Amino acid sequence: MVQTEARIRIFSDPEQLGRAAGEEFLRRARSAVGQCGRFTVALSGGSTPRRVFRELAAADGRGEPVPWDRIHLFWGDERAVAPDHPDSNFGSARDILLSRIEIPDQNIHRIPTELEPGEAAAAYEGQLRGFFGLRGEEFPRFDLILLGMGEDGHTASLFPDTPALRETRRLVVANRVEKIEATRITLTFPVLNGAACVLFLVTGTGKAETLREVLRGRPRPDRLPAQAVRPGSGELLWWVDAAAAAKLDDVVD
Ligand code: 6PG
Repeated sequence: MVQTEARIRIFSDPEQLGRAAGEEFLRRARSAVGQCGRFTVALSGGSTPRRVFRELAAADGRGEPVPWDRIHLFWGDERAVAPDHPDSNFGSARDILLSRIEIPDQNIHRIPTELEPGEAAAAYEGQLRGFFGLRGEEFPRFDLILLGMGEDGHTASLFPDTPALRETRRLVVANRVEKIEATRITLTFPVLNGAACVLFLVTGTGKAETLREVLRGRPRPDRLPAQAVRPGSGELLWWVDAAAAAKLDDVVD
């Protein structure tokens, strides 16, 4: 299987990156809806995507109608907390985006963290299998998966040296992350790597060394899980700001 090379774009600052990512989301959404009547996207967690959520929330107001009734929102990972907990990735998207757009409830596919982590993972996997109509060992093909990257090279909740890195069959697992003394629920690499497009969004000087190692260093995916995200038949986009790119040799976009 030919693995696509990463395409890197460097933006001057996080605001420019957030705007561009919002525009890219909408461009892909309109194209997918036009071609097959729906757009499936898994949102990332943490702080970086919040700028994108704000851009998306503002799009309708700019007179650019967004086909939210055809857009299905999923999450790439979730903390094992209630939706109204300040650490909830769903909660963050709800507060910034979902509460400001007209999107049908059935288009919002939240990871059910009211369940125990293992049960939540199994339930979410069942949601994915049902929505995408999967049989046997099939994996879903998201139109777009947004991902971030931690300073330790984790992505989604696939942290260095954790059991989830080895998962090759399940779509969603509960992953015990001793380093942060927490259990997370996360999509697995087969799902990330089955996407039509993975878009990493990375900003800040704190990520510069790790970004250089992930993109330019030798492969060591157990230590740098983001390196293992290589869609087999999809696009791999790394959109970063100048601060995060400080140790790369690429020119600013
Ligand atoms: C999470 C995310 C995680 C995040 C990175 C980067 O649940 O925290 O899914 O993978 O993308 O930790 O987080 P920041 O965007 O906050 O730097």
